[in-house]
Amino acid sequence: MEQSATAQATGLELVQITEVAAIAAAHWMGHGDNHRADQAAVEAMRKKMDEIAIRGTIVIGEGERDEAPMLYIGEKVGRGDGAEVHIAVDPLEGTNLVAQGRANSTAVMAVSEPGGLLHAPDTYMEKLIVGPPAKGKVDLDRPVAQNLRIIADSLNRDVDDLTIVVLQRPRHEKLIGEIRQAGARIKLIDDGDLTAAISVAVAGTGVHAVMGTGGAPEGVLAAAALRCLGAEILGRLKFRNDDERERGRRMGITDEKRVYRTEELASGKDLRFIATGVTDGELLQGVRFFARGVRTHSVLMSLASGKMRFIDTFHYEDPENPPLIRL
Ligand code: FBP
Repeated sequence: MEQSATAQATGLELVQITEVAAIAAAHWMGHGDNHRADQAAVEAMRKKMDEIAIRGTIVIGEGERDEAPMLYIGEKVGRGDGAEVHIAVDPLEGTNLVAQGRANSTAVMAVSEPGGLLHAPDTYMEKLIVGPPAKGKVDLDRPVAQNLRIIADSLNRDVDDLTIVVLQRPRHEKLIGEIRQAGARIKLIDDGDLTAAISVAVAGTGVHAVMGTGGAPEGVLAAAALRCLGAEILGRLKFRNDDERERGRRMGITDEKRVYRTEELASGKDLRFIATGVTDGELLQGVRFFARGVRTHSVLMSLASGKMRFIDTFHYEDPENPPLIRL
């Protein structure tokens, strides 16, 4: 059927993009080969995009044109009909996690109308991520202990009943000391602060905030999800060198000290966020391979329609000869 020039791709069409990336990457689980796991996800995602009725521009991707052959910033993707959209991707969030067969890796994408996602360079971002009850109350420039008190109060609990997620990196030594000093519990993660960000916004996951510095692209992607969930990320870009600073300037970032709020990182009205689990995690199950089929588990959030869907998909190798389906 012909698509009009402004028709939106459906959520189910978009989910297929992260599903194929997750399946491709999952084949590389535990092989110890980061590059091939990532490349498989990128290639599968890029190919599927061309089948979907979008006129997309990558605004957060694998890097700039000179360093990424596919899904580079500025690349045009999609079948070329349908609505014009801006797209942020992380085809494999947690490359190390897949390579080592560890939990919580995902294939991720956010889509918005043009201009709805911050064009952030591939640098670092200092982040403070909290769930809906603490939204609008915390401040990146406040002492860690004060923010913890505010988060605890918002959840009607004591600081020592909080669990804060922090990437285990030497740069976080001081932060970890301050959180411990304040009495909160810490969950140190090897990788994957985007998945952790989403967990914070979902009750029952047992984590209450993410603190520390991680990837800026992951920060923008997290913002898209957190807006759909009514939660908050505060982020400040942290350039590592003048080259990154210059890249930032070319993308219109002039104030290095600026703290971006969720709505500034992902300002779109028609935001959609999609993720498919690669390895098992707190929110999503990983890809499961079985005779004549594959099963994926995804989340699809839509700001405009106010819906969050968990999608459990069985992919048959041969539609004429379906595998046995299990609950
Ligand atoms: P990739 O898998 O996309 O490389 O990212 C993994 C990750 O752990 C992110 O979740 C996090 O934001 C970032 O890397 C942290 O960067 P670094 O490993 O350089 O500290």
